Amino acid sequence: MFLSLITIFAQKYSTMTKQEQYEELLPQVVAMIEGESNAVSVMANVTAALHDAFGWWWTGFYTVNGDRLELGPFQGPVACYRIKRGRGVCGTAWDRDETVIVPDVEQFPGHIACSSLSRSEIVVPVHNSDGEVIAVLDIDSKELNTFDETDKTYLEKLVKDISKSLNW
Ligand code: SME
Repeated sequence: MFLSLITIFAQKYSTMTKQEQYEELLPQVVAMIEGESNAVSVMANVTAALHDAFGWWWTGFYTVNGDRLELGPFQGPVACYRIKRGRGVCGTAWDRDETVIVPDVEQFPGHIACSSLSRSEIVVPVHNSDGEVIAVLDIDSKELNTFDETDKTYLEKLVKDISKSLNW
């Protein structure tokens, strides 16, 4: 089962629409994390699966600790360790408790440039069963305008599935 998942993730889905890619990938990701209880391991494999399938520049989690986000499992270049609530795209998504789509990071006041090659970004809050934000999923692209409502819809569903699976 696991080997066939890896084979499927290795494909770049070049002929499929983004919606078709999500429809194919997400059930496999949910199957992959089922029964796993180590949150770091789950977040690590989720970022690997997404990053490999979509070819994004940076894909990772930041987790809430007090008034800050702290760097969690990710794929891509090294990144900032800590982000204050309300700062940058990640801290804004946490503070507003909503997904933030940034078509051009240069137009987002206070954007934190962990990598100068990042051009667009999406940040999706992750909630626990009490509805509190406990992490964010942050994805960066080297192209402008990469993320839209399709990404928002599927990534919000994915983080809900992860929270449920981990009993967060
Ligand atoms: N750009 C983010 C910082 C994290 S990195 O993109 C990995 C922000 O503005 O919050």
